[in-house]
This record gives sequence, structure tokens and C-alpha cells, in this order.
Amino acid sequence: MVLDATLSVFRAIGEESRLRIMALLAQGELTVSELTQILGQSQPRVSRHLKILADAGLVERHREGAWMFYRVAGRARREESLTAVLFAIAAMKDSGDRIIARDAERFAQSRQARAAQAAAYFEANAKEWNRLRRLHLPESDIEARMVALAGKNPVAQFIDLGTGTGRMLEIFADRYETGVGYDLSHEMLAIARANLEQAGVAHAQVRHGDLFSLPMESETADIVCLHQVLHYLAEPEAAVREAARLLKPGGRLVISDFAPHELEFLRDDHAHRRLGFSDDEVRAWCAAAGLGLERVETLSPSSGERKKLTVKIWLCTAPADVRRLRSRAA
Ligand SMILES: C[S@@+](CC[C@H](N)C(=O)[O-])C[C@H]1O[C@@H](n2cnc3c(N)ncnc32)[C@H](O)[C@@H]1O
Repeated sequence: MVLDATLSVFRAIGEESRLRIMALLAQGELTVSELTQILGQSQPRVSRHLKILADAGLVERHREGAWMFYRVAGRARREESLTAVLFAIAAMKDSGDRIIARDAERFAQSRQARAAQAAAYFEANAKEWNRLRRLHLPESDIEARMVALAGKNPVAQFIDLGTGTGRMLEIFADRYETGVGYDLSHEMLAIARANLEQAGVAHAQVRHGDLFSLPMESETADIVCLHQVLHYLAEPEAAVREAARLLKPGGRLVISDFAPHELEFLRDDHAHRRLGFSDDEVRAWCAAAGLGLERVETLSPSSGERKKLTVKIWLCTAPADVRRLRSRAA
């Protein structure tokens, strides 16, 4: 049995394109069309390789609307043979192989192109953002629930990741002593500054920064917020990891985003990458980042609001002894 499973893993991986695909997926989740572009191979060919890898249990896929996402099989399904494959891939990467290095470069370019597309959308729509964000959200209910979930007691440090027009800094303003919002879009930041000034929120500031690697010490925040940001990102789990790094022991991460949906046009017209997230997916990111998923709220649009989407709020907490949990997760 073990021999058969190991043989099927090595048969699947024993081909150059498939080994390259595994090396790429070890860096992060990709769609078939992204893999096609990076490898410079036809879509049917790439799909055939992916099927062989999936049948051998090396990768897993999930369909979301018209897009199919692929990633390395999760830890729960991982055979020892796959762990060995991943070690070999890491060694290959470190050895500076020319083809693997070129693929890694193309992977980075693909991620940059994706981020640039979303950034262009935000720069172009910054002034319209407050109107756009209402299109698909039953907004006032969500804001009230988010603030309620974060608890009644004021906290010292609040951090809003992907702050946009600074709305979260505004609605949480009476809950924190100091607030800081990070965003990559200068247009958004300019509007956030004006909005906060107009709302009289003098104890918050906004800064230019990439939410995947922020210039902030670890364990400084009591509350971190990710409101309607994750569905734009190629690596949402990495954003959750960075948020977890910022949280003090016992701190809380409030995530709000869409439940799984099928509005494909949001990808083309509004730069969305993901069509919502399941509770299980968020729970897995939290667990990997050393956080516990404490509560889930579901806010469905009322029957008169057919164009709006179901929104989720996930409340995640860092354990009081955060270091112990992180070392266990590692
Ligand atoms: C949909 S807006 C949400 C803004 C705000 N949280 C709200 O709910 O109104 C997403 C924001 O995330 C920002 N963003 C996207 N990727 C980012 C990154 N890597 N680092 C920082 N901000 C990012 C965008 O510039 C944009 O302003």
C-alpha cells in the first residue's frame, strides 16, 4: 500500500513540467491560466499535467466561478512521500537551477501584474469608493456588528490593513487610543486623510505600506481589521499571517469579507480575485497563523436587496500565550 502510494507520487512527479508545476505551487496558489502563462505551455497540456498531479494526491483544486485554483495538497492529506518531494523542490530552488529560477521570476511577475491590476482599479476608483463599497454590502448592519464584536472596552492600538478611505478607522474611533491604517494606494490614502480630518478623528493616521510586510514591531496591536480586502489578494492567508504577527497576546483580528458567491463580473469589473471564502478556509488560515476562530457572523442581504451579497465577519483571537501556540504550530 505504502509502496503503491509512493510509486504513484514519484511517477507523477517524474516529468519536467510537472516538477516545475510543483515548484511553482509550492510558492503559492495559482489558476490554470496563470500556470499556462508562466510555463509558456498550452492550457490543455497544463490541465493534463495538473490532473496527473491531483490524481496522485500532490495537488488539490477548487473551482470558483469560471476559475480553477490549484495548490499543494493540504497538511491533512499529506503523505510522507509528498513531504519528501517538497524537500527536494526546496533544495532544487536553493541550488540556483536556471529553469526553476526563471519560473520563480515569472511567478513573481504574475503576482506583480495581478497586484498592479488591483492597484490601478483602486487608484482609478478611489473617489468613488464610498459609493462602490455600498453596492454589494448591507453596510450599516455590518459596521455595527463589527464594532460590537470587537468588544466594548477601549484598546490601546488599532490597525486597519488595506484601509482604503479610512472608514474602519472612523467607525472604530471611540474604541482605540491610537489607530493606524495602511494602504498601497496613494489616492485612497489622500481621501482617507481628508475623511478622518472631516470626522474629527485626530488619534488615527494613515500610512503607505504593504499589508504583507508592515514596518511595525510584532505584538503591538490589540485589534487588527481586514475589511473587504482579502478577496483582492493572491495570498489572503499571508495577509492573515501578517495580521497575526501584529497582534498582542489576547488580541483580536476582525475580518469581514464575502461568503462564497457566483458574481463572476466582479473579477472583470472590480478587480476581485476570489469569489468569497468559506468558514473552513478562514479557520485553516487562522490555525496556520496561530489564531483561534472564535466567532462567525453571517449577514445576509434583506429580500429587497437582491444585488447585495452575503457578508461574513470572522472574529479571530490570538491566545493569551501566543508564543507557545506559535512554536507549536511551527
Ligand atoms: C476594497 S478596498 C477596502 C478598503 C476599506 N477596508 C473599506 O472597507 O472601505 C481594499 C483596499 O486594500 C488596499 N490594498 C490592496 N492590496 C494591498 C496591499 N498589499 N497592501 C496594502 N493595501 C492593499 C487597496 O489599495 C484598497 O484601498
